[in-house]
Amino acid sequence: MKTQIAIIGAGPSGLCLALLLSQKGIKSVVLERQTRDYVEARVRAGILEQGMIDLIRHAGVGGRMDKEGLLHEGFSLVFDHQIKRIDLAGLSGGKKVMVYGQTELTKDLYDKVLQDDNIQVIFEARDVLPTGFFDNKPTISFIANGEPQVLHCDYIAGCDGYHGASRAAVPKDRLREYERVYPFGWLGLLAETPPVHEELIYVNHPRGFALCSMRSHTRSRYYLQVPLTDQVEAWSDDAFWHELRLRLPEPYASTLVTGPSFEKSIAPLRSFVVEPLRFGSLFLVGDAGHIVPPTGAKGLNLAASDVHYLSTALIAWYEAGRQDLLDRYSETALRRIWAAVRFSWWFTSVMHKFSDDPIEQKIQVAELEYLMRSQAGQTTIAENYVGLDFAADFV
Ligand code: APR
Ligand code: PHB
Repeated sequence: MKTQIAIIGAGPSGLCLALLLSQKGIKSVVLERQTRDYVEARVRAGILEQGMIDLIRHAGVGGRMDKEGLLHEGFSLVFDHQIKRIDLAGLSGGKKVMVYGQTELTKDLYDKVLQDDNIQVIFEARDVLPTGFFDNKPTISFIANGEPQVLHCDYIAGCDGYHGASRAAVPKDRLREYERVYPFGWLGLLAETPPVHEELIYVNHPRGFALCSMRSHTRSRYYLQVPLTDQVEAWSDDAFWHELRLRLPEPYASTLVTGPSFEKSIAPLRSFVVEPLRFGSLFLVGDAGHIVPPTGAKGLNLAASDVHYLSTALIAWYEAGRQDLLDRYSETALRRIWAAVRFSWWFTSVMHKFSDDPIEQKIQVAELEYLMRSQAGQTTIAENYVGLDFAADFV
């Protein structure tokens, strides 16, 4: 088999990249380990920055998102019995974020990708192994329908997430990994109940962090900070709602509408970056190259900037024979990645309970109070939350 771009992983990164390339007639084969149903069922965050919204529209899949997505102009921070609103739009020159679940976005992407003659998706591809990328002979071996296959290509895009085969195929002495694992997890719950408030609420509480989010006007998504040792099965819905109420301030605690959950899971929190993001003809994109803790919902939005840079660079190569953007991909993408890693780390650090030492919360509250008293402090939160611009000189 032969193609121009071999894409490993059919999550949001791989699917978006394939669509953007296809618009310029560039062909790709996407190798996905799971089935479509499995990928679509994964529940992830649901906040899109303007850069991601633009990318989705550009890829031709913005129709349902524009109809059903909820634009948010602010969110609330709660600490020390105070509720403070961050006016995202007012502080960032009118920028907003959109609430639209990654699950829905992934469905929209699949509907388009599977109709596209320039894109071939191979599901349940096993033992995917990229080779030859340092020798200008990029090749991927894999097994499909029980048959060994070999795919030759010009470039490989590793869009296969944190546990994928792409980064794993690079010798350890050719890369550097930076990692911080946080000593707690997020227990998330989805319920068919109206959200407690029309905007998101991030709560710093002596019992631990809580987040009130949503997927629509009738579907809520809530999170609780929990110890990593907790088992999701041990958390009944009642226990979840009870604990959430304890962490919420009035009027939210008493107006919270509860109901049966239809998804509950515990996710660990991690900051992770690999450098560089290019290894000869292999490029890492999205979660394959970096992970952020979910505080601030930057994960999917960082994948968007990688996809923007790599699609721009590949198109410049095929259309004009330009190498320069491919050469600058890693450095350019990493600059925005580190900015988001810093913000996600900071937001996590200031909102969560790390220890039982009471000095910790006092210092967190002092920092949050200071930032809220200062226009500059609120602006820095708003600018980072709505998402930093993509590099303007990457054209
Ligand atoms: N071979 C083929 N496919 C693989 C392999 C492999 N060895 N390993 C993983 N995959 C597939 C996964 O099954 C998944 O469908 O790669 C895909 C990776 O998708 P995501 O993990 O969603 O990563 P990405 O597409 O980069 O999406 C951006 O940012 O923080 C997050 O929640 C956010 O998932 C979102 C991500
Ligand atoms: C979510 O809705 O899942 C969500 C929202 C905001 C975050 C993280 C997750 O910071």
